Amino acid sequence: MDQRRAGWEGEFPGDGPPGAGLGAEGREISLREGMDAPGAGSIASDSATEGAEPAAPAAAGGAGASRFRAEALGGGPAPRGDSTPEAPPPAPGRPQTASPVVGHAPRASFAWGTPGARAGSTSLQGRGLAHRRNLSRAEMRRSQSSQELRGALGADGLPRVKVAICAMSKKSQSKPMRAILERLRATGEFEIEVFSDDLILGQPQEAWPECDCLVSFFSSGFPLAKAVAYAARVRPYLINDLAVQADLLDRRRVYRRLAEVGIPVPKHIVVSRDGLAPGEDPPGFVEEEDFVELGGQRILKPFVEKPVSGEDHNIHIYYPHSMGGGVKKLFRKIANKSAEFDADHPGTVRRDGSYIYEAFMTTGGTDVKVYTVGPRYAHAEARKSPVVDGKVLRTAEGKEVRFPVLLSPSEKEIARIVSLAFQQKVCGFDLLRSDKGRSYVCDVNGWSFVKSSTKYYDDCAGILR
Ligand SMILES: Nc1ncnc2c1ncn2[C@@H]1O[C@H](COP(=O)(O)OP(=O)(O)OP(=O)(O)O)[C@@H](O)[C@H]1O
Ligand SMILES: [Mg+2]
Repeated sequence: MDQRRAGWEGEFPGDGPPGAGLGAEGREISLREGMDAPGAGSIASDSATEGAEPAAPAAAGGAGASRFRAEALGGGPAPRGDSTPEAPPPAPGRPQTASPVVGHAPRASFAWGTPGARAGSTSLQGRGLAHRRNLSRAEMRRSQSSQELRGALGADGLPRVKVAICAMSKKSQSKPMRAILERLRATGEFEIEVFSDDLILGQPQEAWPECDCLVSFFSSGFPLAKAVAYAARVRPYLINDLAVQADLLDRRRVYRRLAEVGIPVPKHIVVSRDGLAPGEDPPGFVEEEDFVELGGQRILKPFVEKPVSGEDHNIHIYYPHSMGGGVKKLFRKIANKSAEFDADHPGTVRRDGSYIYEAFMTTGGTDVKVYTVGPRYAHAEARKSPVVDGKVLRTAEGKEVRFPVLLSPSEKEIARIVSLAFQQKVCGFDLLRSDKGRSYVCDVNGWSFVKSSTKYYDDCAGILR
């Protein structure tokens, strides 16, 4: 089995009572597959809360509270199987293990999300069709003969779903995106329009073409507020919620949300300087040679200092006196370099903005990068952590070397909850596997595709379809 290329898909039997809250989202795959009621069950309780921000009330609830919250997010049992199945060659664009589906299971309101827009199932086709003029499936079938829809019928006789891709061209023209769109187009079921940068940046959102389903996500330079306004006006089905993407830009909100839903995050304090004079410390902040402290919560060196902006990758690691001191500075890769050690650094923390200070987790030198497609599928691979020596390992083709990884059941559960909690079906995040055996989420990046994996392109297109 080629583990490197393998993702996993859990199964959610549909034999239980209707799920609560976002339960529907945890199990919907495609309206075309059936209308079974969702099952509700317990989830793996080892998506525990130790190490979570103590201030977060939900995080203080222990495993029981974690279980409760996780059920509210998904309701279904943990994905089964702890290894990555070798998927058989998929039918064009269709995942092999898609489970029975939920047509219109109840969805409780959720505090986050783009007003008006929907981010329920994973399927473009199912949700897009249902969305079109709010026709039921039966009504759609009846209306197929109408002159109005005839022009837009796909090969299967159903109306083509209009899908818009609204993202910066660097992303929408990327190799993985093109590969996945090509697979979706080949089904004949979708009319896909990729918005250009000129349209996105140069035109008011009122001029953007309407669609049934929207793939839209932030990257540098993307006008997120404009896209949120477009989604609120047009009300397409959203693959990744847009309003929540603003929260992904702030590491404070990301950690708070993770703690709320019971996902382990590194022990940390948040030193916010919003509204303070430059260089001023918030009340209760103490810095000593080998620790920082806020409100009595102490983080010992070695610790990691992260700017609160998720777009700022200048992360510093401070080493204690006992380890010789000094600071390792991480940054966005420049050629083959991703970090630099400054042995002469005085070891005093930055005060030019707001930062998170978190315990340095010993991991054996690897990061696990996880890529979800909906709540039931995740692909994982590892890379050498930039903390090791700051030298980027590259393949002969110049790509960063990635190692095969199989997620444990509790890590799969984390993936499911991350995808649901942030309403980002296609979502990349980073796991730190601590040498004490537990995994922590240290970064949630939102929309992210696995690169250079045909298997992933097939799976992703299949699940989205
Ligand atoms: N608490 C921690 N303990 C140990 N190492 C950490 C910790 N937090 C982060 N790191 C290391 O620093 C790296 C960068 O951290 P993080 O992923 O939070 O920042 P980022 O710059 O936003 O990353 P990305 O490039 O994925 O957007 C991680 O990949 C990991 O190797
Ligand atoms: Mg990261």
